[in-house]
Amino acid sequence: MSPVFLGMKNISKRYTGVQALDSVDFEIKEGEIHCLAGTNGSGKSTLIKIISGVEKPDSGSEIYINGELSLNRSSINSIHQGIEVIYQDLSLFPNLSVAENIALSRIISGKRKFLNSRSYYATASKAMKRININIPLDTKVEDLSIADQQLVAICRSLTGKLKLLIMDEPTSALTKYEVDALFRVVTDLKGKGIATLFVSHKLNEIMQIAERVTVLSDGIKIGCYPVGDLDSKKIEFLMTGDNFEYTKTSTLITRDKPLLEIENLSKKDNFKNITLKLYPGEILGITGLLGSGRTELALSLFGMNPADSGIIKINGKEIVLDSVTKAVDLGIAYVPEKRLVQGLVMEQAVSKNTVVTIIGRLLKKFGLIDHKKKSDKISDLIKKFDIKVPLVDAPVATLSGGNQQRVVLAKWVATDPELLILDGPTVGIDVAAKGSIHESIKHLAAGGMGVVIISDEVSEVLNSCHRVIVMNRGRISSEFITDESTEEEILESLENWST
Ligand SMILES: Nc1ncnc2c1ncn2[C@@H]1O[C@H](COP(=O)(O)OP(=O)(O)OP(=O)(O)O)[C@@H](O)[C@H]1O
Ligand SMILES: [Mg+2]
Repeated sequence: MSPVFLGMKNISKRYTGVQALDSVDFEIKEGEIHCLAGTNGSGKSTLIKIISGVEKPDSGSEIYINGELSLNRSSINSIHQGIEVIYQDLSLFPNLSVAENIALSRIISGKRKFLNSRSYYATASKAMKRININIPLDTKVEDLSIADQQLVAICRSLTGKLKLLIMDEPTSALTKYEVDALFRVVTDLKGKGIATLFVSHKLNEIMQIAERVTVLSDGIKIGCYPVGDLDSKKIEFLMTGDNFEYTKTSTLITRDKPLLEIENLSKKDNFKNITLKLYPGEILGITGLLGSGRTELALSLFGMNPADSGIIKINGKEIVLDSVTKAVDLGIAYVPEKRLVQGLVMEQAVSKNTVVTIIGRLLKKFGLIDHKKKSDKISDLIKKFDIKVPLVDAPVATLSGGNQQRVVLAKWVATDPELLILDGPTVGIDVAAKGSIHESIKHLAAGGMGVVIISDEVSEVLNSCHRVIVMNRGRISSEFITDESTEEEILESLENWST
């Protein structure tokens, strides 16, 4: 049995109106791969912030490192204790090179007066060797994929005396193949005695990598379990007290007048000869591996990445989509993949963020805001998307990650678009809420809206869409009617291309 590296007893944290953590005990052993699971708002990120010294727990909480009580913790002394956190934004410098990003923080904190490129190239390549990866050292970080940026962030933490690596939802922006690569690195670290703690909403991934799983629910610890005692249904039940079955979308669509028609749409290096139709009330899924062109196609339908050639028609009328304003005027809404950076004003209230897109429709005579109409709309949206917020006037920054995502969805749905394009709508959303978000989307479609859902998760598109197209290297490679297809068939068509 490995000794315990981090021990936590009786950890509590109260924010105004919310008990984020309530007397939680928690431990991680040396070299252990440990996963933290729980619904949105259950306290996972808060626990991580306390471990890393970013937040102070309430009095009575005790934290032990290698069996010794650790007092007056701060982020600096937590780094000295060998604890490093990789947050979702990765905190890298996009315009600096890979080598500079890996080595700089260490060189600066090491009180060395002179920086020379030879020393940080050496530091960086040593860190990369430790986990057997090889990314060109002089590439600018902004030119790397998210997966490679994440590896750079891991290398950066390896330049110190790393004992515990913490990652908050590290896989949410990665494809299956990149996740496998990340997990190989984590296993490799384990071999070197370095523990990993990670948060994930993808239960099958937890089952694949974790040795133990701690489950939180509403700030309370439900338990800590060896992974051998669990399966994803059990974790789901421990988290929510319930089990969820997806029901397929079976509403009939009148394939009479298409809402959207695309003919031979092409954009150099993005996608080629895309031809498809979408009918009112239809939910179309688009899936494909990284670089398949799915997001680029979606962006072109929102005027952000105009196509070079081909035809787009809305309600039978040919249109040119060369700006976002035009797309919005035509009733198109797009919820981006990187919602957290593109979609919200963090310091502003949840209420304001939710209705900012439709403020023009909430006016009375003389241009005054109709406050009753506004607050009715806000509470309707909060209810529809089940946004957990103690006060509607709380800043969005105080919501948990998953609840922030719900605000972005709500805000775009509020515009009541004719065509709604969702890129990864349930990334970071817990299992319980996933279902209800899909129900809301189905409900919107039943009212005549056309919906496009882009997702990596085949089970998600299979269960929430009427039709699924698979894209590969910029082209449509196959199409499935979901009622008549299985997950295996779609996965197989994806995998045929990956080899
Ligand atoms: N700075 C803050 N001020 C007020 N409340 C906060 C603050 N930070 C977090 N909370 C609240 O604490 C609770 C726990 O949030 P936390 O971010 O830890 O959840 P989480 O488990 O990480 O959820 P998710 O899966 O959505 O990321 C939530 O109710 C959240 O609104
Ligand atoms: Mg979180």
